[in-house]
Amino acid sequence: MEFKHKSVLLEETIDGLNIKPEGIYVDGTLGGAGHASEVCRRLSAKGRFIGIDQDQDAIVAASERLAAYEDRVTIIRSNYCYMANEVHNLGIQKVNGIVLDLGVSSYQLDNEERGFTYRVDAPLDMRMDQRQSRTAADIVNGYEERELYRIIRDYGEDKFAKNIAKHIVAARQQAPLRTTGELTEIIRQSIPMKIQATGGHPAKRTFQAIRIELNRELDVLRESLDGMIDLLDDGGRICIITFHSLEDRIVKTIFRKNENPCTCPSDFPVCVCGKKSKGKVITRKPILPGTAEQEENPRSKSAKLRIFERRFSD
Ligand SMILES: C[S@@+](CC[C@H](N)C(=O)[O-])C[C@H]1O[C@@H](n2cnc3c(N)ncnc32)[C@H](O)[C@@H]1O
Repeated sequence: MEFKHKSVLLEETIDGLNIKPEGIYVDGTLGGAGHASEVCRRLSAKGRFIGIDQDQDAIVAASERLAAYEDRVTIIRSNYCYMANEVHNLGIQKVNGIVLDLGVSSYQLDNEERGFTYRVDAPLDMRMDQRQSRTAADIVNGYEERELYRIIRDYGEDKFAKNIAKHIVAARQQAPLRTTGELTEIIRQSIPMKIQATGGHPAKRTFQAIRIELNRELDVLRESLDGMIDLLDDGGRICIITFHSLEDRIVKTIFRKNENPCTCPSDFPVCVCGKKSKGKVITRKPILPGTAEQEENPRSKSAKLRIFERRFSD
């Protein structure tokens, strides 16, 4: 299957990186190399680009797309939570820019075998990293009802989370759920017909919730962000595109904390905690796709771009 994915907020991200032709740049969510190829195009032969993705299909597609820049590109199959280690293993201590374009690619969503979509019947998989043993089926058949409720409510923001969790547990008592089609049918039965007629696809939110939980998307982001900021050289920037309000909140909070980490009470005349700022938030408000992009690429509608610049203090 051809790797199709339309990059979101492409120009805004590339502008935000302030690319230096001889700099070192890392993309932690390489995907189809849409953002990456624009970065590579702006690098001289002395520049360096490191692309990371945990999905083997993305690695193959990106390697083909970036073949022309072979002399300056290194592609690594890994989780971006290991970015600093991967970069240090290449003998590099600091980088000039980092891109994260979170979530799944359209290729992953559209590829029927991967089990991310409710549009076709396929095994309940949803792994971004195919080496992982746990799949969506383990969550659907193994989580307690209240855990299912929590993830569908929090990660799916589905008003019918309680009902969906209850129906999943009742159905799996007959036989374990194996396919996306079986799960979709249970979700349909859990949501009133009137609501189904007006909202988007009834299974969309639950599928999103299970995917986020399975791939630990929020935990990985929360645990990795400080380390990525530390990897930046003076003046280096990190650009992050999120697609979920909880993801965006993590980025916003961690960026702010790195700009102003001081924990002294506000009535202290001088700082005594000794925590120093690591840089500056460039985007007070997130950058959103314009109407033209939203119309052309509906997937971009929920996208938000935030940028942080590392500044070494004396
Ligand atoms: C939205 S796509 C990126 C698309 C890319 N920017 C482009 O323009 O072609 C997200 C990619 O990030 C990968 N990904 C998501 N979370 C990851 C993680 N924690 N570590 C490594 N790769 C990850 C997914 O496998 C997917 O290929």
